[in-house]
Amino acid sequence: MFNSKITGLGKYVPEHVVTNDDLSKMMDTNDAWIQERTGIKERRWIKSGSEDTSAVMGAKASRIAIKRAGLTKDDIDFIVFATLSPDYFFPGCGVQIQDMLDMPHVGALDVRNQCSGFIYALSVADQFIKTGMYKNVLVIGAEYHSNGLDKTTRGRNVSVIFGDGAGAAVLSREESNTQGVLSTHLHSQGKYADKLIVKTPSISHWVPNIIASGKEDLSYFPYMDGQFVFKNAVLRFSEVITACLTKNGLNKEAIDMLIPHQANLRIAQYIQKKFELKDDQVFNNIEKYGNTTAASVIIALTEAWEQGKIKTGDHVVLAAFGSGFTWASALIKWV
Ligand code: ACO
Repeated sequence: MFNSKITGLGKYVPEHVVTNDDLSKMMDTNDAWIQERTGIKERRWIKSGSEDTSAVMGAKASRIAIKRAGLTKDDIDFIVFATLSPDYFFPGCGVQIQDMLDMPHVGALDVRNQCSGFIYALSVADQFIKTGMYKNVLVIGAEYHSNGLDKTTRGRNVSVIFGDGAGAAVLSREESNTQGVLSTHLHSQGKYADKLIVKTPSISHWVPNIIASGKEDLSYFPYMDGQFVFKNAVLRFSEVITACLTKNGLNKEAIDMLIPHQANLRIAQYIQKKFELKDDQVFNNIEKYGNTTAASVIIALTEAWEQGKIKTGDHVVLAAFGSGFTWASALIKWV
């Protein structure tokens, strides 16, 4: 059995910055409300007419990650792509990356686990490397939220939170099993699926029928029971971080860097307090990008690494909670 380690990281966010003041021109909201409740100051939204999509942004982040790993596209054995906003209903974005990066016949898998998506994808890649089946796996998280949001006052509780962007990691074989990805922890609770959901398009609810009916149908847009989600998020974040520490015989003092899914700064601050972490032990960038769902953990990890905040030997904890519900964590001893 091998371990896996991250050998390359990359991110891409659209250039177009949308501030809270910009949103207040589209709907009845304001900068003070958004900052106080979520910590978000601005987010990136793909501008209409841009070539960017989840797959295109994922490809841009991937090229950076592969280069930084000191590899070429021909060294990549497999692709795992996490998103809740794929370019197509099917096929998934993974095969688009295979084509865009010109990786002949490399297998590609899509992961549908919302905010927990990147950690699920990392865990899948880790298993392939552990068994020796693959040496280098490209793991991507990318989201194109902005086109699917209800940007009127009716949808303000959801639409102010989400941003577009992508991140990618190359996961490679590590001969030592005392470093690299030490463990991953994945969970779900489908009975709460309807608390954070986009209902259509779906096989049981085809768009042409909706349009033909002439009725305004809100099931196109994300729905969220915000307070219910918040309460579950703080509980599950705590549990899943504790699980990865316990599994590896460590306690909270061992955490050098926590990269939480960027759902809401208040959630991250609660977790920071609970685990008694200092400001420089938790990385947040939600104020710049909003919630980029499956892209958030990998964009934050890439930025933390780019800023020199992660060193060899550090224990890095990744943790996420989101729609499904799903939640997940990973403990990495940085190589
Ligand atoms: N601007 C101004 N006012 C608003 C806005 C807005 N954008 N949105 C809602 N309001 C108003 C409401 O109408 C309500 O007014 P009322 O009291 O007169 O009825 C009031 O503000 C409070 O609204 P709530 O929806 O109850 O706001 P809450 O305090 O719950 O904050 C928030 C909303 C920030 C979304 C919070 O619930 C939250 O962060 N939830 C968790 C999000 C999360 O973790 N998601 C998981 C990951 S995402 C994924 O997996 C896809």
